[in-house]
Amino acid sequence: MSELSTDRKTILSGMQPSGELGIGHVAGALRNWVKLQNEYDSLFCVVDQHAITVRQEPAKLRKRTLDIAAMYIAAGIDPEQSVVFVQSHVPEHVQLAWVLTCMTGMGECARMTQFKDKSESNADNINVGLFTYPILMAADILVYNADLVPVGQDQKQHLELARNLAERFNHHYSQTFTVPEPYIPEVGGKIMSLQEPTKKMSKSDPNQNASIWLIDTDDQIRNKIKRAVTDSGSDIVYNEELRPGVSNMMSLYHIATGKSFADIEQEFAGTSGYAPFKEAVGEALVGYIRPIRERFLEVRADKDGLDKILHAGAEQARARARKTLRKVHKKIGFVE
Ligand code: TYM
Repeated sequence: MSELSTDRKTILSGMQPSGELGIGHVAGALRNWVKLQNEYDSLFCVVDQHAITVRQEPAKLRKRTLDIAAMYIAAGIDPEQSVVFVQSHVPEHVQLAWVLTCMTGMGECARMTQFKDKSESNADNINVGLFTYPILMAADILVYNADLVPVGQDQKQHLELARNLAERFNHHYSQTFTVPEPYIPEVGGKIMSLQEPTKKMSKSDPNQNASIWLIDTDDQIRNKIKRAVTDSGSDIVYNEELRPGVSNMMSLYHIATGKSFADIEQEFAGTSGYAPFKEAVGEALVGYIRPIRERFLEVRADKDGLDKILHAGAEQARARARKTLRKVHKKIGFVE
């Protein structure tokens, strides 16, 4: 297990164990974590405390927390190099969140689009945690003084709050927190539903054909792409507004193959209908996801190995988080 060094910059990111991970999570975040982990001190957590802002079944939450940690490793996160841990194992996140909560205006939380969306979809459980969620996310980031936060586009507004809170604290007391920058990919920052390409692909979508999960079989992947909603017209051109379905699939094809949009347009110029394109996208995704799925099954089967990684990860993360929290408590006037 590597020591976190002080001369390299830090990245932190996390995912909620509130459902299966899909190709959107890889496209928007996970593949960048893998890419950046060699250059940065890297911390990746499974944010179980965020997940309970929406009702969760305990057994499922427990299983998914481990699934997601295993998926990080399966997708290429090296636990020898990066710190992989579970949020609730590091109580300093919540402790810092309380301090930041006392510095956040109600209006700042009320205007978060994710809060508005989730309040609509969970109308029977609009809890205070759902409201203050972005403050806990800010604490996740600031407690490690992360420089960079690799996420998908939907997290941009939350990152903005984290930046504001860092600046506010620094201004009020004295320089304490690094102001974090988001790292959002140009392609893949927002992968859309395969069934409604104007809507984000999401863990909580009940329509199983809308998302490609990382545990899908080869045939499931092929079939979902075959059934994906396309647009009127038949040529393969990138235009998010006029051709959201095809553009989304071009993004997926780019992720799986590395080919540019210009190359993809060229490759399918003059083919009739969407079928050959869809077949190529399906096969490319099968080739991309299969090794992740196979590695996931191996990692997940070794429960002791996974536990060891998560416990060592939590210890390393805590050592670092404790230092920041101590500094914060001292600055705000808590007695040591
Ligand atoms: P979550 O669990 O919803 O998603 C995990 C990551 O995947 C990205 N993502 C997507 N990217 C592209 N297309 C999609 N369709 C798609 N769906 C999800 C998300 O942007 C995210 O990067 N609040 C966060 C979790 C969090 C966090 C943090 C992230 C808590 N604390 C601290 C970074 C730093 C969330 O709900 O992500």
